[in-house]
Amino acid sequence: MCVLGHAHPGLAAVIADQAKTLIHTSNLFFHPLQGQLAEKLASLSGLPRAFFCNSGTEAVEACLKFARRYWYTKGEPRSEFIALDESFHGRTFGSLSVTSDEHYRKPFEPLLPKVTFIATNDAGALARAVSKNTAAIIAEPVLGEGGIRPLTPAFAAAIAEACAKTGTLFIADEVQSGLGRTGYPFYFKALGLHPHLVSIGKALGGGVPIGAALVSQEVADTISFGDHGTTYGGNLLACRAALCVLDELVGGGLLAQIGRVGRHLEQRLRGIAAARPSLVKEIRGRGLMWGIELTRDAAAVVPAGLERGVVVNRTAETVVRLLPPLIITEADVDAGLDRLDAALGAVGAVA
Ligand SMILES: Cc1ncc(COP(=O)(O)O)c(C=O)c1O
Repeated sequence: MCVLGHAHPGLAAVIADQAKTLIHTSNLFFHPLQGQLAEKLASLSGLPRAFFCNSGTEAVEACLKFARRYWYTKGEPRSEFIALDESFHGRTFGSLSVTSDEHYRKPFEPLLPKVTFIATNDAGALARAVSKNTAAIIAEPVLGEGGIRPLTPAFAAAIAEACAKTGTLFIADEVQSGLGRTGYPFYFKALGLHPHLVSIGKALGGGVPIGAALVSQEVADTISFGDHGTTYGGNLLACRAALCVLDELVGGGLLAQIGRVGRHLEQRLRGIAAARPSLVKEIRGRGLMWGIELTRDAAAVVPAGLERGVVVNRTAETVVRLLPPLIITEADVDAGLDRLDAALGAVGAVA
């Protein structure tokens, strides 16, 4: 998404500059921007290899395929996946197969077989579901579409234990929670997890389509040239935009700002929740990724917010989701939350 806002001068300048030289070449040729971007992502994530694509769902799709390829190469073909209730991983067939919501799945069944869904944050259910037939466990470190639900440290420990016991791979889907959104480069790090594969997208290009699967060396060693590919994935324009986003995030001090503004946002949200106990059940989130769970359907908050000049969205029926651009300031937070509070007031007044 547009994490640097609209018409960011630095991003606009590099896109224009790149368009004047070379937007795209055949992916039969290496270009240095891919190498530079892969190196930066490797140092942020700890995963040394990257496959570039165009969207979040393609990144997840690549992770699922690479997990299968890993077990095929090892001569022990494992085909099963474990995913979480309330998960969302995208709308292509593989990603949809590990997405739990019937609303997205039903019209396209049959999907991939052998996907087991377990309750989010239920360590016991994970221990019962995992086996030596499990190719990978896939989870969003903070479930986004599912209502902004961070994984608990106990569940993270259960994932690590399940992988250690059975050799199962862990895929962290950071398409929504990654690249600074939670105040961390990746939320799996805050949970102490060491995924074998990580999917990213959304924030990476600052609005220019690009996604990536970040891959451990162990898994990368099992993939052969030509196993997977895409025409535009990681082209020069997209890589140049992504390099600019990462420069802002790390070198430009954005990560530190997200931490500071995020704490302010949390404090203000807690105040709003405390003042509206009959409407607000709970607030959840990290950094600049927050959900306000209402005691009723949250759909009416969206138009009420738009009328007052603030864009929010509703997810998981009862949750108002806030994903502001990462450049947001404390003053912008205050202006936006005043409007949101007024929208909540209007919705709360209609019993
Ligand atoms: C966690 C997660 N994974 C994957 C996707 C799919 O990304 P895209 O819409 O870019 O295909 C999304 C999109 O909302 C997401 O939130």
